[in-house]
Amino acid sequence: MNFPKAGTFPLSTMRKRSMGPNPLKLCEELLGYASIPTGSVVLDLGSGAGLTSALMAREYRLIVYAADLWSDPSDNMRFFEECGLTNRQAIPIKADATALPFAHGFFKAVVCVDSYNYFGRDPGYLGNHLLPLVKRSGELLFAIPGMTRDCHDNLPACLLASWTPEQLDYMHDIGWWRTNLSQTQGVDILDMREMACTREAWADWIECDNEYAKGDRAAVETGALDYLSTIAVRLRRR
Ligand SMILES: C[S@@+](CC[C@H](N)C(=O)[O-])C[C@H]1O[C@@H](n2cnc3c(N)ncnc32)[C@H](O)[C@@H]1O
Repeated sequence: MNFPKAGTFPLSTMRKRSMGPNPLKLCEELLGYASIPTGSVVLDLGSGAGLTSALMAREYRLIVYAADLWSDPSDNMRFFEECGLTNRQAIPIKADATALPFAHGFFKAVVCVDSYNYFGRDPGYLGNHLLPLVKRSGELLFAIPGMTRDCHDNLPACLLASWTPEQLDYMHDIGWWRTNLSQTQGVDILDMREMACTREAWADWIECDNEYAKGDRAAVETGALDYLSTIAVRLRRR
């Protein structure tokens, strides 16, 4: 696939700062399903080491709050500066998705790449913690690592080559996520689909030089991608 915006980041930067399947490609494909106006204030939830935040701030001209639990906001700020971004364009924050320190109706949009499945599996999460922070008619865009079909009752050996059943419990298919999201009032599901760039995003990830990527190679090299997908979700607050 063609990724003119993701491709503006050097390969070495993508490899150094990714925490899973190439977040730049996932983010560019995801944003292609919507139209967030230039200058909008956006929450990048579970932003990790800041790649998607830098992409949205620099290439889409959005004002991005990069909120993440595990990453160091000071390190992310230095990265944003290296990308030529000021702290008014990309704002790094350490925050828990279940206790976000923002006013209701603050964001025009929320983008969440490869992290919603950490906190969003609780069907009460969306309505209790995230949706109130979004303006009416604002959109929420998620790229969720998942399965083509839930197979938790009979996990194939290729998945178990890298992950435990407990880790795989974070991965679900599109039907499971539709049931989860449908339980929230005040939001319309505009679109849910399997993302086209999943295979190449995973191929980029396992080339990264870190212990997590190396650990994921066994699964990918024995056929895990036949079972894995990435689920794009587009929601609109009523
Ligand atoms: C697999 S990493 C993906 C990071 C980044 N989006 C990327 O694609 O490189 C998952 C991220 O979810 C974040 N996360 C997990 N639980 C969280 C929570 N309760 N609140 C905020 N962030 C959370 C972690 O800090 C981590 O950075």
